[in-house]
Amino acid sequence: MLVANTIRNTARLALRNGTGYLWQRSAPTNLTRTFSLGIAVRQQQDVVSVTFVRANGDKIKASGKVGDSLLDVVVNNNVDLDGFGACEGTLTCSTCHLIFKTNDYEKLPDKPGDEELDMLDLAYELTDTSRLGCQITLSKDMDGLEVHVPATINDARAA
Ligand code: FES
Repeated sequence: MLVANTIRNTARLALRNGTGYLWQRSAPTNLTRTFSLGIAVRQQQDVVSVTFVRANGDKIKASGKVGDSLLDVVVNNNVDLDGFGACEGTLTCSTCHLIFKTNDYEKLPDKPGDEELDMLDLAYELTDTSRLGCQITLSKDMDGLEVHVPATINDARAA
């Protein structure tokens, strides 16, 4: 009897809310919230923070997305590094020269190719852990990366 009353009352409520189906109103709202939260979490997971350290020790914090290059991070965050990335990533200037900590350098997935090595040879203050920022693609495990910016840059196109 109790079960029969519950079913009857549920049917009455469904008719009263005009939908004919009790859960139709709330289900889409809940789905929307879950979906939005999922996107927010995914976007947060794709963010990689990077700190650029100038020769004078000043630190500039920035962030990029997985798949961005370090040149993209500088451009998209308006990081004030004079002359950085002059050739816009076409491997003809060496102005995006950055110096990595040894640990970070060794974890980079790709070694520099011949074209990058040729450009690095023209960079000032070259070290064993130097790379060109336009050739480094961010991955999630680079989150918190700190790279040093040389005091002087050389635009190889000017030679
Ligand atoms: S931006 Fe010119 S070599 Fe990287």
